[in-house]
Amino acid sequence: MNQINLSKAILFFIALSVTASTGAAEKDARQKIKLPTQMRAHMLSNMRDHLQALSEIQAALAAKQLDRAADIAETRLGMTSLASHGAAHMAHYMPKAMQDIGTEMHHAASRFARTAHEGDGQKALENLAQVTQQCVACHAGYRVY
Ligand code: HEC
Repeated sequence: MNQINLSKAILFFIALSVTASTGAAEKDARQKIKLPTQMRAHMLSNMRDHLQALSEIQAALAAKQLDRAADIAETRLGMTSLASHGAAHMAHYMPKAMQDIGTEMHHAASRFARTAHEGDGQKALENLAQVTQQCVACHAGYRVY
């Protein structure tokens, strides 16, 4: 390959990757939720705590500490966590379908807490999967940036 062909080839690949990346951005079909800057920061901080809580729940389950897993789930993800998340205030900005996913996540976390407290590890795992399914569902549908 001579010098000119080589630079043509390089240009071609640059063009190809630029096209590919803008293509990916266009395919982002998630609905954008407009939030005041401070509320968005607050929400993302809650989100990071959700992930942290899941991680702590898994560690507790692995250590067979079902009561601890239950307490983490109830206080950080369950119905008890709603007030500390400012959920009522936030809900105002979310479409109904998004609110419903959030509500289902809190319910599933409380169900997990109950079955874990009862010592039913198998049922608790099923309930935990219902929690993470709501994380996945909401992230697939919505974005804030
Ligand atoms: C009701 C909707 C909803 C639910 C339920 C939800 N999230 Fe999110 N989450 C979002 C949105 C919207 C974003 C912003 C995504 C974007 O703009 O790309 C986000 C962002 C995040 C982020 C990135 C935070 C950052 O600093 O950028 C993490 C981590 C996260 N979520 C974890 C979770 C976990 C774990 C769960 C479940 C236990 C969960 N989320 C449940 C809507 C949700």
